[in-house]
Amino acid sequence: MSIDHWITAVISLRQARRVVVFTGAGVSAESGIPTFRDDGGFWQTFPPEQFASWSGLREVALSRPRQLAEFLRDVIEPIARAVPNPAHLAIAQLADHVDTTVVTQNVDGLHQAAGSITVHEIHGSLLEVVQTPSGKIVQRLTREELQQISDHLDRYARGEASLISLGWQLSRVFPLGRYDQYRPNVVLFGDALTEPAWTLANAAVDACDLLLMIGTSTAVYPAALLPQQAMEAGARVITIDPQPGIGCWLEGTAADIAPRLLHDAFPPPRSDARP
Ligand code: OAD
Repeated sequence: MSIDHWITAVISLRQARRVVVFTGAGVSAESGIPTFRDDGGFWQTFPPEQFASWSGLREVALSRPRQLAEFLRDVIEPIARAVPNPAHLAIAQLADHVDTTVVTQNVDGLHQAAGSITVHEIHGSLLEVVQTPSGKIVQRLTREELQQISDHLDRYARGEASLISLGWQLSRVFPLGRYDQYRPNVVLFGDALTEPAWTLANAAVDACDLLLMIGTSTAVYPAALLPQQAMEAGARVITIDPQPGIGCWLEGTAADIAPRLLHDAFPPPRSDARP
């Protein structure tokens, strides 16, 4: 990584008054959650044309229900097991030094688990169940409940349980209702982004003087517009990603770079410092 970029990033963070941390799947990769578009990402095994929209999922449910169960298990299981990694923790600690708003495309709840307070989940949360079409949250799931759901899906996917038994087991964890009445609070292709998260995210981006983008390919709109929007409003953009990013690019992984950046921008008091 270029030393110039590092110095620019450290100074920018130290001088910033309002920071937006804009995250994607890469920030949770080191918590064991696969990304979407990297090698081994979700969309390699489960093509987005079939698995990234409600209509696609409905078709898979009717034609290949066990494959749908495999997909859901593979999405849910890593999130059920995940704990925040050093990047999530560094982002949470950043709020001790500067006004920080997290805008995330992730549905894993790990920023809140790490201690971040102001988090706008613009693609929703897998830990919430909503009623449709109102979008009212009717239940919050624990990671233990997600694990139970994943276990039931796994048994069905492996042919060790029937669809009826799967339905019965799932109904004990969250409301199934009639067709389409309840669903996880996640945004798929073609959906509007979650509100009020999206409106609040836009306001935070317009007001920030630094946008720190971590682990997103910016392949999905309208979320991908946020870094450009920040720049147009006069903010500086820093990117942490193994792949080239916009603005001041810090090449590397989130769990490696984010804590070091925080440390260099806001060095902890030396333990041998005299009063
Ligand atoms: P992607 O899978 O598109 O991009 C992941 C990004 O993380 C890439 O830029 C990787 O280089 C980077 N990355 C991988 N490992 C990393 C690590 N350890 N540390 C830092 N960066 C790392 O995921 P998103 O950009 O989040 O939306 O995808 C955006 C949206 O596309 C998702 O919210 C989801 C998906 O389809 C919907 O389903 C609506």
